[in-house]
Amino acid sequence: MRYPGQLNEAVAAWLDEQGGSVRAGAAAMTARYGKGASSSGIDLAAYVAARLPATHAVNLRVLGEVAGLLPDFAPQGLRDVGAGPGTAGWAALGVWPEIAQIEQVEASAPFRELAGHFNNASGLSALAEAAVVAGDLRALAGAEPRDLVVASYVLAELPEAEAGELALRLWQGAKEVLVLVEPGSPQGFARIRRARDALIKAGGHVAGPCTHDLACPITGADWCHFKERVQRSRAHMHAKGASVPFEDEPYSWLAVARMRAVRGAGRIIGPAAHTKAGLSLRVCADGSIAERHIASRDKATYKRLRKMAWGDSLPIG
Ligand SMILES: C[S@@+](CC[C@H](N)C(=O)[O-])C[C@H]1O[C@@H](n2cnc3c(N)ncnc32)[C@H](O)[C@@H]1O
Repeated sequence: MRYPGQLNEAVAAWLDEQGGSVRAGAAAMTARYGKGASSSGIDLAAYVAARLPATHAVNLRVLGEVAGLLPDFAPQGLRDVGAGPGTAGWAALGVWPEIAQIEQVEASAPFRELAGHFNNASGLSALAEAAVVAGDLRALAGAEPRDLVVASYVLAELPEAEAGELALRLWQGAKEVLVLVEPGSPQGFARIRRARDALIKAGGHVAGPCTHDLACPITGADWCHFKERVQRSRAHMHAKGASVPFEDEPYSWLAVARMRAVRGAGRIIGPAAHTKAGLSLRVCADGSIAERHIASRDKATYKRLRKMAWGDSLPIG
């Protein structure tokens, strides 16, 4: 896992300074988040060792997708709401190194202090000059619009019924694009779905993951989510008591833009099934979900699509 600038070194040094084992804290944190509890009072060292690698990897993947969908989007300014240690800003700089103004809005004083520490240690001017602001998403109003607004794993800490209204608050402060990232759980997706409905009503265009602005076709107990493989560092493995050097982080996301995106022909919303006969994909496109089969005997198409995976956008044609 590579954070931008000197953040890998800064994170390792900070974790060393905390001393002791973070394993108990990481287990308690996982249990708390699993029950839908907030980050209030969370063990910061456990967060940095055991959650940050995954939330950063997911942000990097999602913002990379957004860059592909909006090739003309070149954000200069970013507002990261519920910034925690600064995760979305780190990922955004990995995708758009030209970002010059970063504002990190965060309700928790210990997380603000931590974000400030990492900003100073990052060796990156956009982070060194970032504004770390005490603020509450539920009271966010009248903020100067920024090109890109991100809220990553924040709506999960607030009531589901408020997700639409909170998304609209964030959208008011977005000059071009709003990105929401949530856990890939039924609860995370429920918030994304409410946010999507509210933002489309407000005139936003969905850039991704959906390739349409029609009603979401996911029904019943199903939920739209993806998985990102995260390589675990030694500290991460220790924190989790893990024996495998990677984990698959489930996530749900939404990017809404004021401009229209270069959308694909559909989004793959489940694991690809490979057989001798070909490749089967579960695809969401034009407001419905269908199984698509690409026969291996259709050599040209098969060759073009055989590496397509869950989460990818199908190319047009
Ligand atoms: C799970 S952490 C995510 C941190 C970071 N965005 C990431 O992806 O790693 C949730 C963060 O949102 C913050 N938060 C929760 N409710 C908030 C609110 N109403 N306003 C601002 N920040 C909030 C928490 O303090 C915490 O830092």
